[in-house]
This record gives sequence, structure tokens and C-alpha cells, in this order.
Amino acid sequence: MSHDSAPQPLTARPGHALRGDLKPPGDKSISHRAMIFGLLSIGETRVEGLLEGDDVLRTAEAARALGATVTREGEGRWRVVGTGIGGMQDPAGVLDFGNAGTGSRLMMGVVGGQPVTATFDGDASLRKRPMRRILDPLLQMGAQIVSEAEGGRVPLTIRGPREGIPIRYELPVASAQIKSAVLLAGLNAPGITTVIERAASRDHTERMLRLFGADVTVEPYSEHGHGRAIALTGQPTLRGTDVIVPADPSSAAFPLVAALIVPGSDVTLRGVMMNPLRTGLITTLIEMGAAIERLDEREEGGETVADLRVRASRLRGVDVPAERAPSMIDEYPILAVAAAFAEGTTRMNGLHELRVKESDRLAAVAAGLAANGVDHRIEGDDLIVTGNGAAPTGGGTVATHLDHRIAMAFLVMGMASAHPVTVDDGAMIATSFPSFRPTMAALGAEIVEEAATV
Ligand code: S3P
Repeated sequence: MSHDSAPQPLTARPGHALRGDLKPPGDKSISHRAMIFGLLSIGETRVEGLLEGDDVLRTAEAARALGATVTREGEGRWRVVGTGIGGMQDPAGVLDFGNAGTGSRLMMGVVGGQPVTATFDGDASLRKRPMRRILDPLLQMGAQIVSEAEGGRVPLTIRGPREGIPIRYELPVASAQIKSAVLLAGLNAPGITTVIERAASRDHTERMLRLFGADVTVEPYSEHGHGRAIALTGQPTLRGTDVIVPADPSSAAFPLVAALIVPGSDVTLRGVMMNPLRTGLITTLIEMGAAIERLDEREEGGETVADLRVRASRLRGVDVPAERAPSMIDEYPILAVAAAFAEGTTRMNGLHELRVKESDRLAAVAAGLAANGVDHRIEGDDLIVTGNGAAPTGGGTVATHLDHRIAMAFLVMGMASAHPVTVDDGAMIATSFPSFRPTMAALGAEIVEEAATV
């Protein structure tokens, strides 16, 4: 899974209807944060349902290197005893975050607010991703950037201040990662740190700050009512607590769309988080005509979860507004696959942030669609996909560029296209959905390994 492991090509073949029940893996965003809040707290944090994917394990390792005691007690069950705010140690070595954008950027916020010095690095994908967006506010808060690779990339070294400077920061782009990094740095700043976002992004950091004992207020901001001002009172004592991690809607998206496009399918996804800042894909698919039933809605670990019953459906093209992007930012690759099976044109507006994900996802999705005979085009930051309601040809090989979601999206396409679809490397799937292959196989999907050609 790191930059030096061998690529693992995989092929998905069209086959039988998918049937059965599954529990998708724990939410990646909440799993990273559980480790980070465990580190920042005094006392014990017990986590249940942690995503044991490579990305989160890197964050766990970094928490350990900064002084936390992190123990695995059983499947998905972890215990973290933290150092508290101000009690961290300099890590002995480089913090290697592998493929993990969220883990690295949130931990930069932690280190940028604490009196420690740490070096961050990652794989070839992470080394291409922009970190200036995190470093700029951290500099204002008193952190020093000791060194950085060209263009504000990893490897980079941050030295945090003894005590941070509270700031009022308006986010340049709708990004929960930037918001979270500023709030985490604000934990060691005397006074109020305020983050302004013009469009609401996922709010797991705000919720977990409160859960661990911090004082956070959230007020509407901007005349349109989509924005928020989030204010944190610095230097609280965070206390270790229990965290139950709900199933990840971004991982659920892959079996969900598979069930929609493979004829005759009927699949139930258990305990999926329904936080409205994460459900843009479900809203969009329902507009497209998808048969998705939300059953047994309940509260679990401070989030609403539901079972989703999904049946194969005839989909039609829709316009997806740019304002919806923050609530489905990781779901566009799989939405593009659904759109390829729909009748008519689906226009996905305002996708500029997709260019700086684990890969340039706009380019990677377009290349994957092209390789499989799907009519599409990019206009500015918009992706337009046109289908005729029948299965696309398939038969292509898709370059995944170390991106787990590109790999899973096109494997799902291959489960229902006329010919099998191959992805050049499925190894990265383990960053977010380590059990993807057995889970899909249990529903009846056929994914096989190909001999590597490189
Ligand atoms: C995440 C935020 C999103 C998302 C990522 C997880 C988080 O990134 O793409 O997978 O947990 O905060 P941005 O905030 O940069 O859009």
C-alpha cells in the first residue's frame, strides 16, 4: 500500500444479480478523528468500529509517535490514552502518512498548535497534494514551517508554538480538512479561534470537539444561509471518551451503486451514517430514480444511521448543483459510473476540488469513462456524462493513479458493463475499504486478480 508495493491489477466481470446484507466499514473521517482526539485528551478513549484501513493505521502510528498509548483490543476495538493538549513529545522519526490526505492534514493542525516539531511525508500521491492551504493559516497561528518540498508539499517539517495565536479564518475553499486543521491548532491558543466557511462541509470535528468537552458554537453565516461561523474556545481540557464509529457512507456508495446497476439486485446496507453533510450522493441517486429505502433510522454514537435497502433501478440523467459538492465530494467517481448507466445526460457542476484529491479525479474519471466507451466531456470544472439507459461497452483498462476510489468505482462499472473492466492497481483499496473484495464477492460479484504487467 505504500509507494513501493507492487501494483495489483484487478478485473470485474459482469455476472449475476447482487443479493444480501452487508455492514460497510467504519467511517474514515471519524476514525482518523477518534485517534487524533484520543491523543489530545487526558485519560482513556475507547473506539468501536474503527476503520482498520491503511490510512487510519498511519494516523494511529502518528498518535503513538507523538506520545499516545494506542492499543488494538479486538476487531475495530481500540484504546487510546492521550497526552492532553500541550503534553506531546517530538516524534523520533518521520510521520509517514502513506496515502492519507485527511490524516496528514489534520495532524499538521495538531502539530502546528503544540510545542513539538514533526516531519510529515507520504506516498507518491500524497507528495503531489497541495499543503499550502493548511500551512497558511498555521503560520498565522504561530507555527513555523522549518522545511517543505517545492510548492508546499510533503515532505515538510512543522514546529508548533508554545502557545498558539487564535485567529478568525475564512476558508478559501469548502474543505473540512482545512477547517479541522485550524480548529485543532486553535485548541492550544488562548481565546477564540473562528473558522468561516461559505458552504457547510462535513462537521465531524465540531461534533467530536464537543463530545470530548470543548466549547464550540456554530452560527449561520452569509446571506444564502449555506455558510457557517464555527467558534472554538481555546485551551480546554479534553477528556477521553467512548466513540462508536458508524458505517462510512462514502464506502457504502460502491456496493450501493453496484446494486442499482446490476440487473435484478436487492442489497441491504446496515448502519450507514446519514449525516446530512455526507448524503449528497443518496439525494442525487433518488432524483435519478434509484430505489433506495431508508429503514430503521436510529442514533448511534451521536450520528443518525439507517439501513439502506437498494434495488436495481432504471436511472435517468440529472443536473447536480455545485452547492451539493461538499456533501458528496468523494462520491463523484461512483456517481459518474451510475450516470453511464442512466438514460440521458448527467451534469456534475463545480468539481474543481476533485483535481486535488488522491489523484486528479476529474481527469482520472474522464480517462476511465473514455476507456470503457462512455460518452462524456469536461467543460471547465463540470463533468457531463451521457448514457442511453443500456450497459456501457466496458472492456477497458483504467489507470487508478494510487486512488482507491477510482479503483472501486471502475470495478463496480465492470460488474454491469457488457465486457469486463480492469483497473491497473487495486492495492490502494485497502486505504479505506480493506474488505471490499470479499464483501462484494459475498453479494455475488466477480472480481479476479490479473497478472501484473509491470
Ligand atoms: C475529509 C474531507 C474531504 C474529503 C476527505 C475526508 C475529512 O476533503 O475529500 O476524503 O475527513 O475531513 P476536503 O475537506 O479537502 O474537501
